[in-house]
Amino acid sequence: MSDRVVLIGAGDVGVAYAYALVNQGLVHELSIIDINTQKVTGEVMDLNHGVVWAPSPTRVTVGSYDDCADADLVVITAGAAQRPGETRLDLVGRNVEIFRSIVGSVMETGFDGIFLVASNPVDVMAYATWKLSGLPSERVIGSGTTLDSARLRFMLGELYDVAPSSVHASIIGEHGDTEVAALSSANVAGAPLSRDLESVPGRREEIERVFTDTREAAYRIIDAKGSTSYGIGMALARITRAILRDEYTALPVSTKLHGTYGIDDLFIGVPTVLGRSGVKSVVELDLNDAERDALAHSAEVLSGVVDSTGL
Ligand code: LAC
Repeated sequence: MSDRVVLIGAGDVGVAYAYALVNQGLVHELSIIDINTQKVTGEVMDLNHGVVWAPSPTRVTVGSYDDCADADLVVITAGAAQRPGETRLDLVGRNVEIFRSIVGSVMETGFDGIFLVASNPVDVMAYATWKLSGLPSERVIGSGTTLDSARLRFMLGELYDVAPSSVHASIIGEHGDTEVAALSSANVAGAPLSRDLESVPGRREEIERVFTDTREAAYRIIDAKGSTSYGIGMALARITRAILRDEYTALPVSTKLHGTYGIDDLFIGVPTVLGRSGVKSVVELDLNDAERDALAHSAEVLSGVVDSTGL
């Protein structure tokens, strides 16, 4: 069975994702579509010249929408990106219009696979993809707070002097300014963070700073280098692996809720079990009152933005 991915968008995020896919040998075929034909041609050539050293060969090609017809996964990174001082929500008007064209072109090919959306504001763009495609919500996934959670796990790993892989903590909610750190269910190699928050002097302040640094990371990276790319590229590759390998791994992607966490008819970041057919199930964390209130606020903000799009 050949794993075929079509990537729409060869900007900083798209090419970082493509580079991660090739380096990890995750797919058999990768077709890349971009309105800038010259750039996408160069990116494809450059990637192909490294395939010889990849763990398994990937056939990378300059794509067209026809390639979506038998694709397993269509990944959308295209659209306007945050400029310094812009929030992710500021992008919604421009990107909904771009998505009307992109999703329409994909669906005209008879695409019947899974959409993975990274373009911001990703929770709203995942909702837009679901509405515009008509696919079942299980087959529309946004990158959500997967990257935010990775940032939190990295920074907590620095604080506790352990590998991020031994830190189990989730950011949930909007991939953006209203995101929520589900610290009451976080642990470091099984040891609950909540114990330290109460018993270790100064630890609560340290962890609150870590959460602030997590939430503001993208702004700092954009100010420093103009955009973010590697973190989101690797996050998208991790989500791709969970889907194509039918892993049943739980990742905090943006998924459509149908009442879980008291939220309905909205795409938002929560731990979600992923497999070959897309969303398998949603994990309901035991949130404390403050976390539940913050998630409700995040959902309210996102709902307001979705309503403003007229989707
Ligand atoms: C970031 C972008 C992907 O958080 O929103 O890096």
